[in-house]
Amino acid sequence: MTTEYVIDDRENHLFQVNREVFTSPEVYERERRRIFDRTWLYVGHESELPRRNDFRTRDVGGRSVIFNRDRTGRVRVQLNTCLHRGAALCRHTSGNAKIFTCFYHGWAYRNSGELVNVPANEDYAVSPVDVYKALPSPRTDSYRGFWFVNFSDEGPGLAEWLGTSTYLFDLVTDQSEEGIQVLEGSHQYTLEANWKLLVENSVDGYHAKSVHHTYFEMMLELGQTPPMLGDASTNGVPPAGLGTEFGNGNATLMYPGNGLPLANDHVRSSLAAMRERAVERFGESYATAVFNLARNSVYFPSFVMIDLNFGMILRTIHPLGPARTEVSSWHIAPRGLDEESLRYRVDNALTFWGPAGLATPDDVEALEQAQRGFGARREMAWSDISKGMGKKRPAANDELQMRAWWRQWNRSMTGRELPREVEEFVPFDRAGTRDGHQAESVLPRG
Ligand code: FES
Ligand SMILES: [Fe+2]
Repeated sequence: MTTEYVIDDRENHLFQVNREVFTSPEVYERERRRIFDRTWLYVGHESELPRRNDFRTRDVGGRSVIFNRDRTGRVRVQLNTCLHRGAALCRHTSGNAKIFTCFYHGWAYRNSGELVNVPANEDYAVSPVDVYKALPSPRTDSYRGFWFVNFSDEGPGLAEWLGTSTYLFDLVTDQSEEGIQVLEGSHQYTLEANWKLLVENSVDGYHAKSVHHTYFEMMLELGQTPPMLGDASTNGVPPAGLGTEFGNGNATLMYPGNGLPLANDHVRSSLAAMRERAVERFGESYATAVFNLARNSVYFPSFVMIDLNFGMILRTIHPLGPARTEVSSWHIAPRGLDEESLRYRVDNALTFWGPAGLATPDDVEALEQAQRGFGARREMAWSDISKGMGKKRPAANDELQMRAWWRQWNRSMTGRELPREVEEFVPFDRAGTRDGHQAESVLPRG
């Protein structure tokens, strides 16, 4: 089946993407309308708003939004734009406020969105408070503390949209009985490349050994097994890992993790204790899926969650133009970790994912090079994403997860549906069973 953007040739197991989609201003505009104006977009995690009236501002779907808890404690996502003439209601990135006052002419809003005060109100024939009343409120919903917004009132609700991919939030959240928290601070950086290249890269297991060889070499020199090399089979996930899709472009690659590189005995035993408590709550298999599988997951269109066991990040990918992208990244950790274990995870995350770490700058370089390469898109029009196509169970370093994402992208952009490739594979749900089998029966022995 061929469309203008994507070639999905099931017979020859060939999947290609037209390079025009990485450079064209028309495609970029169409993405705004057909994807970012109508899809569930990740905004933030409730642990970022511990108290009433706490707020964060961030850019989501081309809009500035206020992610906050109002005075009743309810979490909200509001447009950070004044009803008067559009200036920002809040210019801080975080804080605690019951009222947001626009700095331009001073219109003031309750943190639940109602317009409550207009300076020189008496000069209006009808008070703007009565004309405009409140900020419009986009659809918002959450799953286990992860909050999403949808700027359209049409289309499926969040639960239907996420489907069984909520499993991936469970695996992250269930690491501690107290759940997870987003740590203070974030990384923000831009790259001179199309946003979709970073989406691909975030779930690209193929590039790890070539692009990140500096990191691998460092780990090997320190006598550590790098986490992406896989080891024994875990919960039916083979050493080479696997890619799987959950519908609507949500997809993941997972592989057996390699424990905790560079961890000292204290860190190891404190994590082992955490795992032991998960075994008591959920059984051995689910605990293995939680603690011993590494995962790179993408939620269509632009939210990424990576859990490499030694650290976890959330990432949002925000297009600023056809060849310019802004990335925000937050480190998350199970609640209740002692300070040393927390420091271990933060150090790992900085070493690997930080803007000056051993992974991120190399990724950025690869993507910016690709973007420059698209200058020759007339002569070389198609990018290839066929790796592992036709396999019944594609590996983590195959490209099923990217194709799943691209098929949803194509569906959003053209309305044409391309059938999915494989049945989803979930290595044991919270009940510890799958397809009626006790999970333990397929665990590796010894
Ligand atoms: S633009 Fe906000 S008060 Fe005028
Ligand atoms: Fe990478």
